[in-house]
Amino acid sequence: MTKLLIFAGSTRQHSFNRRLAHVAATLAREAGAEVTHLELSDFDIPLYNADLEATGTPPDVIHLKEIMAAHPAWIIVSPEYNGSYTGLLKNTLDWASSPVKGHPVWADGEKPFADKVVGLLSASPGALGGLRSLSHLQPLLLALHCWLAPKQFALGSAGKAFDEQGQLIEERQRRGVQTVVDQVLWAAPRLSTD
Ligand code: FNR
Repeated sequence: MTKLLIFAGSTRQHSFNRRLAHVAATLAREAGAEVTHLELSDFDIPLYNADLEATGTPPDVIHLKEIMAAHPAWIIVSPEYNGSYTGLLKNTLDWASSPVKGHPVWADGEKPFADKVVGLLSASPGALGGLRSLSHLQPLLLALHCWLAPKQFALGSAGKAFDEQGQLIEERQRRGVQTVVDQVLWAAPRLSTD
C-alpha cells in the first residue's frame, strides 16, 4: 500500500486549496493508498533563517521532515499568489530541504527528498485555477530531485466548484484530481527509492 502525503500551501480557514486537498485525500484512500493529510497550521515553523539552523533546527521542522521522509509519494495543493506559489510553501520546503546540524541522516545537506514522487494540484477563484503557481513549483521540486507526475490539475473558479459537503460539483473536475492521484500512486512504487 503506497504511503501518500497530502498538504496544501494555505492555512486559511475556508481555503479552496485545503478543500481540494480533502478531495484528493478521499480519492486516494478510495484507490487504496495509506494517506496522511497534513495541515501546515499544525506545525510551528518560523521564517527560515540559517542562524536558527546553526543553533538547532526547530523541533516541528524535524517532525515535519520525518513525516515527509516516511512517505514516498506526495501531493501538494498550491494556491497562487502573484503568479507564483505561496510564501508558506516556499518556507516549508526550504526548511524541509535544509540540513539539520548533528542529525544522523540530515546533517550533510544531501537532497533529503530525492526520488519522492510528487503530484501537483492548485485552486484559485480565478480562471486559470492557480496554474502559474504550479509552473513555479516544478523547478523547486526538480531542484530537490523529486519526480513530478506529468499531469497536473488546476481548479478554476474555485468559489463555485464545491458543494456544501466539500465535494467537487463537476465530474470533469473530479476526474482531473483523480488523474493526478492515479499517476502518483502508479509511479511511486516504480520510481521512489523509499
Ligand atoms: C491572490 N490571489 C491570486 N489568485 C490567482 O489566481 N492568481 C494570482 O496571481 C493571485 N494573487 C494573489 C496575491 C495575493 C497576495 C493574495 C492574498 C491572493 C487570490 C488567491 O487565489 C485566493 O486568495 C485563494 O483563495 C487563495 O487560496 P486559498 O487560501 O483559498 O487556498
